[in-house]
Amino acid sequence: MDLSLKGKRALVTGSSEGIGRAIAQGLAAEGAEVAICARRPGPLRQAAERIQAETGAKVHSFGADLSRTEDCDRVVRQAAEAMGGLEILVNNVGQIKLAGIAEISDADWQKEIDRNVMSAVRCARAAWPYLMRRGGRVINITGLAGKQVHLPGDMATSLTKAALNSFTKTLAHEGGKHGILVNNVCPGPILTEGMPERLGWIAGRLKISVEDARRNRERVSVLGRLGTPEEVANVAVFLASERASFVTGVTVEVDGGASHYI
Ligand SMILES: NC(=O)c1ccc[n+]([C@@H]2O[C@H](COP(=O)([O-])OP(=O)(O)OC[C@H]3O[C@@H](n4cnc5c(N)ncnc54)[C@H](OP(=O)(O)O)[C@@H]3O)[C@@H](O)[C@H]2O)c1
Repeated sequence: MDLSLKGKRALVTGSSEGIGRAIAQGLAAEGAEVAICARRPGPLRQAAERIQAETGAKVHSFGADLSRTEDCDRVVRQAAEAMGGLEILVNNVGQIKLAGIAEISDADWQKEIDRNVMSAVRCARAAWPYLMRRGGRVINITGLAGKQVHLPGDMATSLTKAALNSFTKTLAHEGGKHGILVNNVCPGPILTEGMPERLGWIAGRLKISVEDARRNRERVSVLGRLGTPEEVANVAVFLASERASFVTGVTVEVDGGASHYI
């Protein structure tokens, strides 16, 4: 299937590792020019080199902390200027935080909201003028926690991903008249570089071994295993493509059947 992504210009946020890097690589493999960003310069440089070497595509990389408004505005502007435009924005920055109500201060809540929700809101706002020029795509990476409660202490992720779901739906309405399609990709448990740390938190919280925490995560999927970043990326790349031209305002789960809602 020709995805018609050749010549398209894409910014993927939080893309030096994990799902973000796989999406950037997937878009690049289909002929898109890509811009990636993250906070740590080492992994960011390595990701750019790897994507370039494996796909031959042009890759632009920008250091940024997308919890900050000014960095969201700057990265979108730098990416669009470097590539001469922007048709695809993938808002992938986000992180899980396990903590109970008494453990999350106002400042911590604000950090979660800034990273998991406002990074996407601010990047979409900054990208909107570019996306309106030729009709564009916004893809937000959400998570099962936004629709179902399944991990103890997953309160901050649940609240912020639910907010992102609602942002996607309303932005899709606004984007319709400009030919901008806005969708969510919702991963289940995916084996990324961040997974060992996450399993450590879960194990500590449930007072079980890390191996048992991993087995529990595997059993969440009806396929009995963790997913790969590439399996999530395949769906994001499809939604970014011309083949998904009548799909907007929806959430596509890539969770191996882990979601319990109908
Ligand atoms: N993996 C899963 O099982 C899973 C499940 C459901 C949903 N998700 C969602 O999928 C997305 C990606 O998750 P992942 O597991 O692939 O993450 P990951 O492996 O931890 O990678 C996160 C990437 O984002 C960058 N990043 C983190 N905070 C950033 C910030 N404030 N500003 C700029 N870049 C930042 C990281 O680089 P630096 O640290 O250098 O900044 C890294 O490149 C997230 O939205 C997550 O909530 C993941």
